[in-house]
Amino acid sequence: MQTQSTLERIFHPIFENNNLIVSVKRDDNIHPIISGNKWRKLKFNLRFAKENNYTGIISFGGSFSNHIHALAFACQQQGLKSIGIIRGESDYASNYTLTMAQQWGMTLNFVDRKTYRLREDTDYLENLQQKYPDYLLVPEGGSNKLALAGVGEIITELNQQCEFDTLLTPVGSGGTLAGLIQADNNQHQLLGISVLKQDGYLTEQVNHLLSEEQHFYNWQILSAFHRGGYAKFSKEDEQRIVSFNLQTGFVFEPVYSGKMLLAFLDLIEQGYFSKGQRIVLLHTGGLQGIGGMLERKLLDGNVWSVPTLK
Ligand SMILES: Cc1ncc(COP(=O)(O)O)c(C=O)c1O
Repeated sequence: MQTQSTLERIFHPIFENNNLIVSVKRDDNIHPIISGNKWRKLKFNLRFAKENNYTGIISFGGSFSNHIHALAFACQQQGLKSIGIIRGESDYASNYTLTMAQQWGMTLNFVDRKTYRLREDTDYLENLQQKYPDYLLVPEGGSNKLALAGVGEIITELNQQCEFDTLLTPVGSGGTLAGLIQADNNQHQLLGISVLKQDGYLTEQVNHLLSEEQHFYNWQILSAFHRGGYAKFSKEDEQRIVSFNLQTGFVFEPVYSGKMLLAFLDLIEQGYFSKGQRIVLLHTGGLQGIGGMLERKLLDGNVWSVPTLK
């Protein structure tokens, strides 16, 4: 498996008109299934589980979770078992994402929303650990301290690939941004685009993951670009992403990378970036999510297609 990603220049009239040099860090290309930040965040978790002789990994996610999808596959590849604690009803078991997760050997454990909210509660986690003593518990989104080193490799690669001023990434649970911040060590401006409406806790969550011995001042989470909340977007948002994809040949999806893209375009229009800035957009993958959105008719089936996951 190729574990580094390429950096590609992306051209669009709005970038030229504003004198911006824009590139995309193609983590979406790392692997069709464990793509984007999934591979980065899971890499050292998988290694830790193997080296410490765990039987498997337990983690948490929604019923269309990219993380659950990637974790199931990665565990199968590594000879580890996997259990997904899934928010929602068991009917979801036959959806696009979870069908594949089960094919890769994941056991699904559906819980109601109230129970799911306990996913970071110490007592709840202790009980879970007692029930499955030989399983490594990995938080939602794979965002724990082990994830940071894997994400940090993005910065190591970028430092060899280019010089840049600003990097943008979508933010869900904060692990990706935290890994970037720690590895970057205040070299560049890091902008996290929150894809959630209720994101007040995110800055604290990122700080919680970061090493306390260092002071990081080069990052910020922008909260105004969630477009209605997690996985919400308007027809107009969808059309803007589609036309950008058609113009550039890249595929941004509307839950993570597409929200970052729309935020970026809006920020350019607001004059946020100075002329000549060199900007990197981190494409965090998640293209499997398109399959689930097509299944629920949340995307126009005439323009989007189910990604090939082979
Ligand atoms: C495709 C994709 N991009 C970005 C993110 C956000 O990353 P994080 O949860 O580390 O903030 C996620 C969620 O993990 C994701 O699935």
